[in-house]
Amino acid sequence: MARHLITSALPYINGIKHLGNMVGSMLPADVYSRYLRQRGHDVLYICATDEHGTPAELAAKEQGIPVDAFCAQAHDAQKAVYDGFALAFDYFGRSSSPENREITQHFARRLNENGFIEERAIRQVYSPVDGRFLPDRYVEGTCPHCGYDKARGDQCENCTRVLDPTDLINPRSAISGSTDLEIRETKHLFLLQSKLQNEVEAWVSRHEADWPQLASSIARKWLTEGLHDRAITRDLDWGVPVPADTWPELAAEGKVFYVWFDAPIEYIGATKEWSDQDPENRDWKSWWYDVDDSVRYTEFMAKDNVPFHTVMFPATELGVREPWKKVDFVKAFNWLTYYGGKFSTSQKRGVFTDQALDILPADYWRYFLIANAPESDDSSFTWEHFTATVNKDLADTLGNFVNRVLSFSKKRFGDDVPAGGEPGAAEARLGEQIAELLAEYEAQMEALQFRKAAAALRALWSAGNSYLEEKAPWLEIKTNKDGAALTLRTAMNLIHLYSVVSEPFIPATAKTMREAFALAGDTAAWVTADEARSLVSVPAGTPFTVPPVLFAKLTDEDLETYKERFGGESSAA
Ligand code: MF3
Ligand code: ZN
Repeated sequence: MARHLITSALPYINGIKHLGNMVGSMLPADVYSRYLRQRGHDVLYICATDEHGTPAELAAKEQGIPVDAFCAQAHDAQKAVYDGFALAFDYFGRSSSPENREITQHFARRLNENGFIEERAIRQVYSPVDGRFLPDRYVEGTCPHCGYDKARGDQCENCTRVLDPTDLINPRSAISGSTDLEIRETKHLFLLQSKLQNEVEAWVSRHEADWPQLASSIARKWLTEGLHDRAITRDLDWGVPVPADTWPELAAEGKVFYVWFDAPIEYIGATKEWSDQDPENRDWKSWWYDVDDSVRYTEFMAKDNVPFHTVMFPATELGVREPWKKVDFVKAFNWLTYYGGKFSTSQKRGVFTDQALDILPADYWRYFLIANAPESDDSSFTWEHFTATVNKDLADTLGNFVNRVLSFSKKRFGDDVPAGGEPGAAEARLGEQIAELLAEYEAQMEALQFRKAAAALRALWSAGNSYLEEKAPWLEIKTNKDGAALTLRTAMNLIHLYSVVSEPFIPATAKTMREAFALAGDTAAWVTADEARSLVSVPAGTPFTVPPVLFAKLTDEDLETYKERFGGESSAA
């Protein structure tokens, strides 16, 4: 059985992320990791903050604190939110770690030895007003490809094309706003990606059939446009320094690697951080180096990250000429929109992950987001849709079922799962249906089809409700007490089954449901088809308690409050 290495795109250090970032990377990675762990796989889920580069420097400047202090703080703030969302990382690292510095410098040296790095003099934007070169995001202007007028020097947010600051039309300094910019010459390291085009192409060809269409089409588009040599160093204070043993002159000038060079390497760096901080942890290299198919590597990301992960980072890994693990499966997501418009960190539009947790517990968000993940297309967040989904799926279909069954049984039969009755045709039909839906749920999870997995989970919950309506134990009890006991016992078995299979989506609620039963030796990680069919794992006589209401129903008033607070429609519309 292969071990599973899982990573999600590293969130930038500057600022708390919005729900759109969450649903396109970390949350589905967590759901998938939890699922695989439950099924008994050896899983390592690694993430980290992406800390270098201009965004961090600019944000620190805005707050008037040193950039390293800013990053330390911002890392902890993000980590706290992810804990709140119950993201069960094996390790959440920092790309500014010594481990990442060491591996990044190693990669650069190897690329250089293999002839894939060249020193070139380039013309760069210089701002006399600011007294410095302006790399990346320090320059803003109009995108030459699509005309978007807030394009940044590194990438156009609108058309996702990667840019060079000198490409921008009507450039201005992001520090001072000055348009008095000149072009000066300076030396930088270039990664000769053009030399690796054929190898990357061959590598993509071997994998793209397995990838979602979104990932392979973006990779193809990039390969068709051709891999260009690109500068991998910058004139910044904050970053992985160019190693002085190899490039003394550039090191003396204080050049650092470009953030997009060291960030993907941090997947490896963070694994080393994880090993270094606890000797119990398996050697980091056993996940990354010379592992072939004994490790299956799945990456989660939104579509703007796909070129870096399917083309550019693989080019780097190939050029290093060492057997570093490359991605097997790229799970790419489209955008989650806010009422059809863009979630925007800079314009503070949409719902941020810390605000979300202020309003409602993580499980509400986890379920809604995954059930509506922007997989085949963009999907839109609206408060109307959110409250309707919570009320229907979580409060009615799941929560109400659990509460109704347990409180009714307690009232009529006391504190233990009731005895009596023999399973009949209705139970056999239910068992078949549950086993089938469970198989469907498993298949969709294995295929990383999250919306479909959520639909199967919802169908499992619904099947319980239909069974309960059909058997109507509240009527049955008047004429056939044993029959009612059987119905309730079967329904309680469903609750226990739900507690196991819902865990990847709603871990806190799943735990509450599971702990409702004082089931001796309840260690089962998953449910077998036979167990699903027979629904007798929780036997008569098992003590249980009635948990508090699992999901609060959201009222029209709640809906109005949310819309008021966050804006009920997109200002871009
Ligand atoms: N910080 C980047 C973003 O938010 C993602 C970096 S992913 C990595 O888009 F692999 F490069 F680290
Ligand atoms: Zn553009």
